[in-house]
Amino acid sequence: MKASPEQLPSTTVREANAGDVPAILALYQQLVPDAEATPPEEACGLWTLIDSDPGRTVLVVEHAGRVIATGEIHIRAALTRGGGHHATLDNVVVDQAYRGRGIGRQLMGDLVHRAEAAGCFRTQLSADSESAGHFYERLGFRHLARTYKIYAPGHRGA
Ligand SMILES: CC(C)(COP(=O)(O)OP(=O)(O)OC[C@H]1O[C@@H](n2cnc3c(N)ncnc32)[C@H](O)[C@@H]1OP(=O)(O)O)[C@@H](O)C(=O)NCCC(=O)NCCS
Repeated sequence: MKASPEQLPSTTVREANAGDVPAILALYQQLVPDAEATPPEEACGLWTLIDSDPGRTVLVVEHAGRVIATGEIHIRAALTRGGGHHATLDNVVVDQAYRGRGIGRQLMGDLVHRAEAAGCFRTQLSADSESAGHFYERLGFRHLARTYKIYAPGHRGA
């Protein structure tokens, strides 16, 4: 992916740690504004589960000591296509105060690089809005499949 000329200077993409969880939860409120907030006491245990999954990596983008974006990659082994690995990207969100400045492109570049470095034959994601779809297409993703979802009773989704 090309570097964006709009890129905010002095940003760092790094793997998230437990101390980032409150900032990540705040970003998720922007991702799904009408969703119920995850209680902090539950978030700690959930983070331990996520962090102990060897195929799963949550990244954050930091600027001036502040977490301004997050996204994650899940790499899975596959028996299809001759055997190998494939990746799914999820929960990509940039703080609304920092959008349109190349942060999303920078974060996605790191996620896709990790998939390529792991030898994934495919990297896929699901866009929950037309606008997000335009963003992903701008980065080279192609709209190839339909996504079907079913939510448990009491849960809403896009
Ligand atoms: C979608 C999102 C992650 C984009 O992040 P961003 O930092 O604003 O994006 P960038 O500034 O890095 O943009 C990268 C490229 O995508 C384009 N782009 C970004 N958002 C776009 C949109 N909504 N429609 C069309 N193009 C878009 C930019 O113009 C830019 O193109 P260029 O560099 O080739 O000129 C951000 O808007 C966001 O967090 N939205 C809310 C959460 C969300 O929808 N996440 C996706 C969940 S499926």
